[in-house]
Parts: sequence; C-alpha cells; structure tokens
Amino acid sequence: METIEKPRYGFVAWKYFASMAVIGFAGLALVLVTFVFPLSFLVRWILRLVGAPIAFVGLYIGTSYIFLYEKALKRRGDNWSKIAEFSQLKGNEKVLEVGCGTGIGSISLAKKLPRSKIVGIDIFKGVSGKSPESAMRNAQIEGVADRVDFRYGNALKIPYADETFDLVTMGSVLHELHSEKDKTKALREIYRVLKPGGKFVTLEILRNKKLALCVLAFALVWKPKEYWPTLIERGGFRNVTTRSFRSVISFGIFTGEKPVAKLTGRI
Ligand SMILES: C[S@@+](CC[C@H](N)C(=O)[O-])C[C@H]1O[C@@H](n2cnc3c(N)ncnc32)[C@H](O)[C@@H]1O
Repeated sequence: METIEKPRYGFVAWKYFASMAVIGFAGLALVLVTFVFPLSFLVRWILRLVGAPIAFVGLYIGTSYIFLYEKALKRRGDNWSKIAEFSQLKGNEKVLEVGCGTGIGSISLAKKLPRSKIVGIDIFKGVSGKSPESAMRNAQIEGVADRVDFRYGNALKIPYADETFDLVTMGSVLHELHSEKDKTKALREIYRVLKPGGKFVTLEILRNKKLALCVLAFALVWKPKEYWPTLIERGGFRNVTTRSFRSVISFGIFTGEKPVAKLTGRI
C-alpha cells in the first residue's frame, strides 16, 4: 500500500523546555543521592533543600511543553488563516516571511493566496529539523513548491532590496530577538523592504497570568499585549492595530502599515 508523506513542521522552542527538564532531573538527582549514600545530617539536608525546588521548577516547566504543544503550538498553522484574514490581501501579493522555520507560515499563506509568491527567510536555529531544504520538502508535500522559496536570511540584515514586498509577516519570532535594540533594528529592516503602502503582520504569544501559571518565570520570555504596538510604531509603521485571540494560551496579531508617501515637515 502506498504511504502518503506528511509535512514535518517540527517542535518550536523545544530546546528551552528540554533544558529546563534536564535541570529538573539534576535537582532530582541531588535529592536521590541523599537516600542512597551515607551523608552527614547537614549535607543531607542542604542537598534536599537545594535539590527539591530545582527539581520541582525544572520538571514543572519541562513537562508543561507537552501541554503547550498539544493544545496550541501543534495547530499553529491555523493561526495563519487569521494572519491572512487580518492582512486584507488580494491574493497576488509578493510576501516575505521572516523567521519561517520549517515553513508552516509561508506554506499556509501560499494555500490561502493562490496567486502570491512567498519567500521565507530564517537563520535556521531553534526549530527542530529546520533548513531551507526541509521547508521546501514540506512545500512540495503540500503542493505549493512552485510559489514559495526558502533561504538563509537574518532579520537584522534582510537580504533584499528596498521596497520589494507588499507584505512582510512573522510568526512568533520578534521575542527571540532579545534586546529592544535588535527588535527595533529588525522592524526598521522590515520597513525598508516593504513597498510604500505595504503591510507588516506579526503574531506573538502573549504573556498573561495563565501563561505564567503554565510555565512559571519562563513566561518572561514573552511580552504582554501592550508591549508590541509602541515598538512597531518605533519601527516607522503607522495605523498599528492589535487583535488578540485565545486558544489555550493567548496570541496577539499586530499589524502596521508603511505610509504611501514620506511625511515631509512643512507644506
Ligand atoms: C519560535 S520559531 C517560529 C518558527 C515559525 N515561524 C513557526 O511558526 O514554526 C522562531 C524562528 O525565528 C527564527 N529566528 C530567530 N532569530 C532570527 C533572526 N535574527 N533572523 C531570522 N530568523 C530568526 C528561528 O530560527 C526560528 O526558526
């Protein structure tokens, strides 16, 4: 019987959670040695008091990935329907996806926009099994390989000329640029490669109480809803909008426009 090949979109952010699980197991090991080896009273209790909280926090955050992945991250392709809807596209746009990973965003958009050309760039770190070739293989399996292309490219120095694209998108990438300086630099690069009147749309997981309950202090990796609009405006964009929606965790979709003409001081 013929087997049908399925696309492999990989596990986003799994390395962070796996590292926390390893730290958790190290904490557990500290506690367990106190039951196996004959130690003095003081050493035994120091190891237990240090090891137990490390074990709890590490294993709690590490295992929360299973929940987050199953309930939200696995279906992240669905979020791109919302991105397409909020972008108000005609269907024939030239699109750039920054931080495309294994291609789930570019491929979902290509399916929604039947006459568009879409390029995905990434530094290809942080998603399991990622490379331009693996993203392209997924595009072939999904039947859109003739309209998408994937290549190496850094958000901080986008390898395209000024005013090339009608739309630039990002799916859960900006938070990975850790300093505010880098985030702003990436936004200015996106602004540069957009045509006048072009749109920028980005999706981010939102930090809120529920996320903090899920992943404890690890939630600090993400930003609250209020953080993004100001930053996007600082990148030069106008008419910035925010929409949020909740699956098990909350997502925000933020859009901005590059003005058609540069505003000059006086008339
Ligand atoms: C959380 S993953 C999301 C990937 C993809 N958008 C998805 O939804 O599967 C973040 C992606 O951003 C990429 N990334 C991080 N910093 C980048 C940079 N400076 N330039 C381009 N891509 C970057 C990572 O390599 C990773 O593939």
